[in-house]
Amino acid sequence: MASPSIREMASLATPMSIRVAATLSLVERAGSVGATVEQLASETGTSAPALRCLLDHLVAIGVFDLDMESGHYRPTDLGAQMSEDAPAGIKPLLDIGSAGGRAELAFVDLLGTITTGAPAYLHRYGHDFWADLDARPELRRSFDAQMNWRFQVQAPQIAERFDWSRFPEILDVGGGDGTVLAAILHAHPDLRGRVLDLSPTATAATDRFAAAGLDGRASAVSGSFFDPLPVGADAYLLSDILHDWDDDHARKILAGCRRAAAPNGTVVVIEPLRGQGADTAIDLFMLMCFGGRERTVDELTRLAADCGLTLHSWGPVAAGRTALEFGVAPHRVDEPC
Ligand SMILES: C[S@@+](CC[C@H](N)C(=O)[O-])C[C@H]1O[C@@H](n2cnc3c(N)ncnc32)[C@H](O)[C@@H]1O
Repeated sequence: MASPSIREMASLATPMSIRVAATLSLVERAGSVGATVEQLASETGTSAPALRCLLDHLVAIGVFDLDMESGHYRPTDLGAQMSEDAPAGIKPLLDIGSAGGRAELAFVDLLGTITTGAPAYLHRYGHDFWADLDARPELRRSFDAQMNWRFQVQAPQIAERFDWSRFPEILDVGGGDGTVLAAILHAHPDLRGRVLDLSPTATAATDRFAAAGLDGRASAVSGSFFDPLPVGADAYLLSDILHDWDDDHARKILAGCRRAAAPNGTVVVIEPLRGQGADTAIDLFMLMCFGGRERTVDELTRLAADCGLTLHSWGPVAAGRTALEFGVAPHRVDEPC
């Protein structure tokens, strides 16, 4: 197959058509029987002539088929991947009403990010990503669901491939709705843990722990990881946290863990590493959306060292994810963080 021309690679018509189709749930509405433009326009409250134009492009790119006799548009196998219940779980990243799809749209303001280094998300929506989620509960729910989905396979691997049994009490800092902590506690019945996250997500974690029968060993704390953290846990876990932030904020988070940890405490960072699990597109997304970045082991080690944390070991824990274990270094008077 001929490689696409630079014009084809740069055209926004195809990605936007796919995203609008996902937002309007055209695949689910058409189903395997298919539907006419008029039926789909009536169900979605859209303009039939405009919708036909969209569907004809989706046919041209192999996302839908058109049965000329019945006038039915039917999703192809490729198109079916964007269905709500498809195993690929791609819909939240396409649907403009979901946190992931909404965030990707900010790529149209990438020039601003490249010019200033500031997140395009903030420029486009007037709030940073997390404030936007706070203001719009439906975005928060879709983001938590997306995070949960992405770790369906990985959370049990993280629980089993790292020796958590050394840490009787774990604080999962920015632990989302508790997916990772619940997997760890299921795999290690002697451990206890807490999630710290922003308020609505901490509530979701409480619900998850209760539903999983873990409420005797797991709880959730509402709060910000930029404020002082609960002290004295044996391990402070940062899973997919640091890459959401620039170096200054990442240092603040690491320093907070270091301050809260006992003198022989541990900070465990789990991230996709740049070039090993995180490709250039994800790196660009982190910059555009959050002002964050993917980092190498050396970069994470230097950041942590700035905050009095020493790398003890590192290794893969799940496909595309690496765990780095840091120990709390003896207190330094000139601590910069
Ligand atoms: C990429 S998600 C990772 C969630 C979880 N650690 C995981 O790996 O599934 C980042 C998390 O950081 C949380 N977060 C963002 N800003 C925060 C803050 N200032 N304090 C506490 N949590 C925060 C978000 O609510 C979200 O749950």
